Amino acid sequence: MSKYSVEELTPKRVVEELNRFIIGQDEAKKAVAVALRNRWRRSKIEDDFLRKEITPRNILMSGPTGVGKTEIARRLAEISNAPFLKVEATKFTEVGYVGRDVESMIKDLVKHAVNEKKRIETEIVYKKAESVAVDKILDMLNIPNPEKLSKDEEGYEEKYKRQSDYRKKMADKLENGKLDDKKVSVPIKPSAPIPVFEIVSGSGGIEEIDSMIKDMMSNIFPPNAPQQKGKKEKTMPVSEAFEYILQTEAEKMLDHEKIVREALEWVENDGIIFIDEIDKIIASGSSHGPDVSREGVQRDILPIVEGCIVNTKYGPVRTDHILFIAAGAFHMNSPEDLIPELQGRFPIKARLLSLTKKDFVRILTDTENSLPVQYAELMKSEKVTLNFTPSGIEEIAGIAFEENSTTQDIGARRLQSVMEILLEDISFNASEKGGSKIKIDKAYVNKWYKSARENEKLSNYII
Ligand SMILES: Nc1ncnc2c1ncn2[C@@H]1O[C@H](COP(=O)(O)OP(=O)(O)OP(=O)(O)O)[C@@H](O)[C@H]1O
Ligand SMILES: [Mg+2]
Repeated sequence: MSKYSVEELTPKRVVEELNRFIIGQDEAKKAVAVALRNRWRRSKIEDDFLRKEITPRNILMSGPTGVGKTEIARRLAEISNAPFLKVEATKFTEVGYVGRDVESMIKDLVKHAVNEKKRIETEIVYKKAESVAVDKILDMLNIPNPEKLSKDEEGYEEKYKRQSDYRKKMADKLENGKLDDKKVSVPIKPSAPIPVFEIVSGSGGIEEIDSMIKDMMSNIFPPNAPQQKGKKEKTMPVSEAFEYILQTEAEKMLDHEKIVREALEWVENDGIIFIDEIDKIIASGSSHGPDVSREGVQRDILPIVEGCIVNTKYGPVRTDHILFIAAGAFHMNSPEDLIPELQGRFPIKARLLSLTKKDFVRILTDTENSLPVQYAELMKSEKVTLNFTPSGIEEIAGIAFEENSTTQDIGARRLQSVMEILLEDISFNASEKGGSKIKIDKAYVNKWYKSARENEKLSNYII
């Protein structure tokens, strides 16, 4: 969750926030920061007609693999507190791609937004639902409820106090799990409570059917229908009953219409869709086979990026203000090879650069939760202290850069693999080495990395 409101997210601030995690790539950082701000600026224009004339400044990022394209989009979504979806453009060209159109990206984004709004709303109602559940369980355990005493009763005040104290004591016990094993009989609704969380999955088909069935079921058994005669009861341990009642009560308190309404607005105004691997839907030149479908996907995407209405199961959604960020490595082609209409919809082109050894050093030292910090934290759980010295970091960066130049260039992803190989031995033995302190300096890196590499080569050779 971002600590900033939309107004506070000036381009400068967005870049500052991105700088916490991403080294270099200033051009791309600026581009996304400005695009985000422009959307907000446009929303402030009161003249409807004029506002509609201004199209969103969608961004096309290009640059080699592993230099921060996806990372920038991901962090932007975090900072901006926006509903965010990442899709691979190639998904839409897959063989056997039936009944799943490009509109699914909007549907998935909406689903995600609904879940997110529901989660936030659920947190709020949970507190209330909890106290209802406690009350219900206490009633089921036949703990007298002082609120049910009649004021006219003899010795009311004294009884009230006694019962209150007792009920409070039992409520505490319940909370501390001391009543978990007691059995209670719980009225069960004809339809199981609809789970509060819905899983967002990549595939549309089965899930759609699943939700259709759910909808049908809830029509047959409306969640708030009066209890039918001969209602079912189930005996279960208190722990289980508490969970069940909590869920059912929380579900009852949720205002689904409001959640959906807010989620739809949120998507329309703040949604960000990141279309990765856009370079892979460029035709390679021949006019047969998969190329036709690749260009077809570009044409399919076009109206969505241009702004249209997509019907989702939650209602229609306008895509006009959704911010689209596309990215690709463009090894074999260039952004100019996209169909012109689509190019026109991504007016801001941002190039990301290859990372230098210096960048690698900074990635290892100047980013929050950098890899060395992560590994050190992991080892801490085994009471092993890792201390990366500047010379050690320099050496790791050097090895990563060298391997990228001599083998395949995988950008900053190389750092992860170098670290993994380097710390393999420590990782394996750490559980027995509690209390030890390991200094990872240049000498250590050289010694261990080389020997780990030798072993790897040897095992490759044996196979
Ligand atoms: N400039 C950078 N600063 C800090 N970390 C980076 C940078 N570039 C990449 N990384 C790290 O390297 C990993 C891969 O980066 P990312 O996923 O952004 O690559 P990409 O540019 O999208 O590549 P691809 O074209 O293969 O999708 C991530 O873990 C990311 O944190
Ligand atoms: Mg990527």
